[in-house]
Amino acid sequence: MSAALDIVVLISGNGSNLQAIIDEIKAHRMHANITAVISNRADVKGLQRARDAGINAEVLNHKDYDSREDFDLALQQLIDSYHPGLVVLAGFMRILSDAFVNHYAGRLFNIHPSLLPEFKGLNTHQRVLDANCAEHGASVHFVNSELDSGALVLQAVIEVNSDDNADTLAQRIHQQEHIIYPMAINWFAEGRLTYKNGQALLDNKLISSPPQWKNKTLHLNI
Ligand code: GRF
Repeated sequence: MSAALDIVVLISGNGSNLQAIIDEIKAHRMHANITAVISNRADVKGLQRARDAGINAEVLNHKDYDSREDFDLALQQLIDSYHPGLVVLAGFMRILSDAFVNHYAGRLFNIHPSLLPEFKGLNTHQRVLDANCAEHGASVHFVNSELDSGALVLQAVIEVNSDDNADTLAQRIHQQEHIIYPMAINWFAEGRLTYKNGQALLDNKLISSPPQWKNKTLHLNI
């Protein structure tokens, strides 16, 4: 069996997605190790989750740096000291510089609470309600230098109910994220998911339309 994938997870807050990944690894359902969790904010719950799981928990405060580029370079050096095969953004609330993103091309994942390319940016749940969408979701994607862009890997899709509000949607989307993020990371850890020329491939097939997790079933649309 090949070596486990070393992962560094970047967070800014609660870290419930981090917890989902920790739990999958603990349950031996993912052939990976989290070698470090790095937060740009001190005293967030995600750091405690890391410590409780015996994982190195680091804080790198962006306010200690004069520019985005300086912070990103320090972050890159800290990440690289752990030699990860994959860097996982899990609620990391920072815009990343091009140099940083290019350095990790093909090994940088993000999860975003919308059915990308719809609803990039913040406040996605309220914006989905305001637009009267019938469906909402979450997307795992490789990161490129544009905000919430980059090759899509996997989406979770839910129906929006008439009694949903932004809080219930946030809660329901989180539950889905905790399923699809570990799933996508596991594909990468197993070598099934690869990245070539800005595009994602699953089992050597180009992902032109992302696989969707819907009603507890995976629909492979590729
Ligand atoms: C998630 O909704 C994710 O989609 C977004 O940030 C949130 C992080 O939540 N990028 P948590 O910190 O993992 O609980």
